[in-house]
Amino acid sequence: MEELLAQTIARLYKIDVEVRFSRPDPKFGDYSTNIALKLAKELGRNSREIANDIIVDLQRSSMFSSVSVAGAGFINLEVSAITLLTILNSDWSKNYGENDDGRGRTVVVEYPSPNMAKPYSVGHLRPANQGWAARQLMKATGWNVITDNHLGDYGAPFGIWVVGFIKYSSDEKLKSDGVYELGRVYIKTKQALKDEELAGASSLASEVQSWLIKLEQGDDEAKKYSKRFNDISLAHIHDIMHRMKISTDYEYGEAFFAPRGKQAVQQLLDKGVAVQNDDNSVIVPLDDFGFNVPLLVQKSNGAALYATTDLATILFREENWQPDKVIYVVGGEQQFYFSQLFAMARKLGINTELTHLWFGVIDQINDDGVREKMSSRKGVVLMEDLLNKAEARAREIVLERNVSDEDIKKIALGAIKYSDFVADRRTNILFDWKTIFALTGHSGPYVQYAAVRVNKILNDSQDAEFDLAVNDYDYESEKAILLKIMEYPSIIRQAATDLEPHKVANYLYELARIMNKYYETTRVKAAEKSIMQARLGILKKVSHIFTHGLGLIGIEVPDAM
Ligand code: ARG
Repeated sequence: MEELLAQTIARLYKIDVEVRFSRPDPKFGDYSTNIALKLAKELGRNSREIANDIIVDLQRSSMFSSVSVAGAGFINLEVSAITLLTILNSDWSKNYGENDDGRGRTVVVEYPSPNMAKPYSVGHLRPANQGWAARQLMKATGWNVITDNHLGDYGAPFGIWVVGFIKYSSDEKLKSDGVYELGRVYIKTKQALKDEELAGASSLASEVQSWLIKLEQGDDEAKKYSKRFNDISLAHIHDIMHRMKISTDYEYGEAFFAPRGKQAVQQLLDKGVAVQNDDNSVIVPLDDFGFNVPLLVQKSNGAALYATTDLATILFREENWQPDKVIYVVGGEQQFYFSQLFAMARKLGINTELTHLWFGVIDQINDDGVREKMSSRKGVVLMEDLLNKAEARAREIVLERNVSDEDIKKIALGAIKYSDFVADRRTNILFDWKTIFALTGHSGPYVQYAAVRVNKILNDSQDAEFDLAVNDYDYESEKAILLKIMEYPSIIRQAATDLEPHKVANYLYELARIMNKYYETTRVKAAEKSIMQARLGILKKVSHIFTHGLGLIGIEVPDAM
C-alpha cells in the first residue's frame, strides 16, 4: 500500500520518496499520511493541491475503498478488510514479522554479566531480560548473533573470599549453604575491612592483597580456593539462568581478560593513545572526545582495572569475531564509563559500532510506603527468592484450575519478565507484585492469557479446516485485527533498530485488548461453518503473533492458565 503511493508520487512528480502510513483516529480512516505536506516544501507548491492530485490518481487503483484529503493536505485512506487480508496472505510466512535488515552481519550481545562474589540478585534481572530480548530482536532482523556472559570474576573478591572463609566459615558451612555462604562471608569480610580502615589498621587488607598476588603467581593453594569458590558460584549462576530460560554462547569473564590487559595497555602506549604517569599508572586522555576526566587503564602497581579488562575484551572480540556491532547490556549507572570506554576504542582506531543498551533501576515501595531502589536490607533481593515467590503467586492465580507445574513456571517468569518491558527500558521500574500479576492490566499474565484463549479456540476446533480459502466472507468484523497484524513487521523493525523491546510488549498488549473486544461482539465457534473457518484462519495468525512476539521478550505461552 505504501509502495503504491510512492509509485504514484514518482509518476506524478518524478521524485523518489519513502511513504510511511500512520494509523489515525478510526473516524478519519484506516491509514493516513502527511506526505503531501512534505512534498510541498520540496516542490514549492500548495500541499492541498498536491494531496488532491495524488488522490485522483489513487482513485484509479482498486486498492483503497476510499481516499480523501483533510486539513492542510493530509491524505486519509480506507482499505477493505478483504484487501488487507489479500495483502497479508501474500506477505505471510512462518517467520512473519522478521526481516533481513542485519544482512548476516555479526553482532555481539553481552549479558547478563553478574559479579560472582555474591548470589545472583535482582540487580541482574534487567540485564538478563533486556539482554535476551536484544538477542532475540537481532536474530529476528537478520543478524548473526554471538552472545557472551562477561562474568565479574576478577579482582579483590577472590582475596576477600579466601580471607573471610578462613576467618568466618568452614568446609561444612560451605558445603551446606554454597553460594549463600560465600555471599555471607563476602559481605561480612567487606564490613570488617571497612571497620579496620576506620580504625587505621590494614592487616586484613594486606592478607587480601597477598592472596590476590598468590593467585596471580599461580600458587597451588590459591588456585585450589579459586576453583572451589568459582565452581560453586558459577553453578549457581547457571542454575538461575536456566530457571530464567536464558543462556549465552560464551562466558569469557573478566579473569580471562586480565592477563591480556598488560599487552593491551602496551598497545595503547605504543599508539600514543595512552600516557604513563611518573607513578607507573597509565591513563587515556579523552579531552578530544569532550571528557575532562581521563580513563585509568593501569594502576600504579601495574594491576588491571575494570577498564583494562574491557579494553582487552574489545581487542579479543575484534580479533576473534570481527563484529559489526557490540551491544553491552548494562545498567544506566555505567553510562559515563561506557562513553569513555567507547571513546578510547575510537582513539585506538576501532570502528565497530559499540552500543550501551542501558536501563533504569528496579524500585520498590518499602514498608513505610516510600519508593526506593530494591535492596537487600528491605524486601526481596535474591533472584532465587524472587523466582520462588513468583511461582507461589502464579500458583495462587490458577488455584482452582488444572495447570501443570511447567505452565506455572511460565506464568511466573512471564509476569516477572514482562514487567521489564512495560515501559521504555530507560525508566526505573516499580516492582509491585500486584501489578505484575494483574490479570486485567498491562501485565505478562494478561497477554499470556489472551494467547492461551486464542489457542484454546483453535484447539477446540481441530477438525475445522481453517486454512481453506473462504470466498464469500468479507472479514469486516476482523478488520481491527487485520490492521493490527499488519503493523507487526514494522514494530519488530523499530524495536530492533532502537533496541526498545517494550514496543513489542505494548503491541502485544494492544493486540490482546483487540482480541478481548472481538470475543465480546463476535462468535467464532458458533458461526456458520464457512464463516467460522474464515475466522479461525485469522485466529491462527493471531496465535502465531502472540507466540512469536512473546518469544522476542523471552516469554513462553502456557498450555493452560
Ligand atoms: N559485572 C558488571 C556488573 O555487575 C557488569 C559488566 C558489564 N560489562 C562490561 N563489559 N563491563 O556491574
